[in-house]
Amino acid sequence: MSKLRVYRDDAPDTPIVEHTLGADIALELEGPEVLFSRWEADRELPADASNDDIIGAYRAQIDVLMTRYGFHAVDVVNVTPTHPDKDALRQKFLSEHTHSDYEVRFFVEGSGQFYIHHADRVYMIFCQAGDLLSIPANMTHWFDMGPNPSFKCIRLFTTPEGWVANFTGSDIAEHFPRLVN
Ligand SMILES: [Fe+2]
Repeated sequence: MSKLRVYRDDAPDTPIVEHTLGADIALELEGPEVLFSRWEADRELPADASNDDIIGAYRAQIDVLMTRYGFHAVDVVNVTPTHPDKDALRQKFLSEHTHSDYEVRFFVEGSGQFYIHHADRVYMIFCQAGDLLSIPANMTHWFDMGPNPSFKCIRLFTTPEGWVANFTGSDIAEHFPRLVN
């Protein structure tokens, strides 16, 4: 079940708000202007669906976002617990950073945990299949795929260069609960 926990950024032990209903999560995330919604596939996807099949199944929703936000590119990323570089991949976005572009992820399968640091709050969002999250450009955040990552995500880009991580140098991420999977 998808879950949002909101913390004060100086109190990582005690969430002050928790939501599991999609509508409640979406409303709470309006504060930091993060878009959260749930999508349904237009057609059923086989287990061995190609990336083109996956994008095709969500084409209508993808086109709406591409038009609204001016995204130019879309791809699919697939990480499994047997991925040879899973530890390095996990480390890559595990510290607080920003991007000059939106970070948009739609979970086709599996799960992962995003953390948004906005004002004096940390929004910890456990995303599962069906969840769309769009983090605005320059918003401080990090992402944990856990020690046994398993997810398939659609990513949308304005420019591929815009998705380079600019690390803030803060160690805040080390103080908040990591994803256990
Ligand atoms: Fe990021």
